[in-house]
Amino acid sequence: MKHFINLNDFNSNQLNKIIDNAIVLKKQHKANILNTELQHKTLAMIFDKSSTRTRVSFEAGMTQLGGHSIFLSNNDTQLGRGEVISDSAKVISSMVDFVMLRVSNHRDIEEFAKNSRVPVINALSDESHPCQLLADLMTFKESVGDISGKTICYVGDGNNMANTYAQAAQIFDFKLNIASPNGYEITDKFKNDNTKLFNNIIDACQNVDLIVTDVWSSMGQEGEQNKRETAFKDFQVQTKHLDAAKNEVIFMHCLPAHRGEEVDAEVIDGGRSVVFAEAENRLHAQKSLLLFLNDYK
Ligand code: CP
Ligand code: NVA
Repeated sequence: MKHFINLNDFNSNQLNKIIDNAIVLKKQHKANILNTELQHKTLAMIFDKSSTRTRVSFEAGMTQLGGHSIFLSNNDTQLGRGEVISDSAKVISSMVDFVMLRVSNHRDIEEFAKNSRVPVINALSDESHPCQLLADLMTFKESVGDISGKTICYVGDGNNMANTYAQAAQIFDFKLNIASPNGYEITDKFKNDNTKLFNNIIDACQNVDLIVTDVWSSMGQEGEQNKRETAFKDFQVQTKHLDAAKNEVIFMHCLPAHRGEEVDAEVIDGGRSVVFAEAENRLHAQKSLLLFLNDYK
């Protein structure tokens, strides 16, 4: 049995297998070819934070594979009333085949996984967002090709998305330029030989193959919005930044986006943006992940 808590729980061969199969699953789905490999299987989806893409993609994905999913918010389960994670993990994992968690505290997923009999998937924590990277890597492969040897620019907060991009840079051997305001850089834990830190966007974007950004205030940081708007005011991705990159550069954003904050509308709604393919690919990448975990021996 294997969990998917951090991107580097898997090696590049395993991740490439998941991504390549996601591309096949997408084609099959569009050709109306049925795949019921998860018939009679159940996915529990535990959310202690909001979600649009993650919930819909996991739920629709289970339906498409012939299985079922259960949406569990903290408000509706005993987790929200203080039942401990270890007991909840033992009980829930005795009844379902996979568990997906979106949590405020990364340690909650680790604790759940320690007590789970079935594979546990990180559907976003304060530390990382590996499911999003599966979709981003798949989208890059479809739009550009192999990511190894390429240069990517991440603009913005040193948050869960930046951390997971830093892990991906090491696993897939691409260069990652990260442009963040002072005080908002990724922590030492996530820096590696493939990451390079910048304090302005234009230098970080020179000749890159992909520019990616994320919100200035992540879920749980709403109270810091004013402070962050000031700190990040020079960190909005604009057309001039795309123009400094390679001619074929593409733009990604995990969404939800705030036009006029981290990205100019002209960029996210422009011809070089692949954000909606990226969002759609959550569905196929996670179906592929579920099949990989189901078959893992
Ligand atoms: N990108 C992403 O995880 O979106 P949701 O928060 O809507 O799930
Ligand atoms: N960094 C964002 C990502 C949302 C998908 C957050 O954690 O809110």
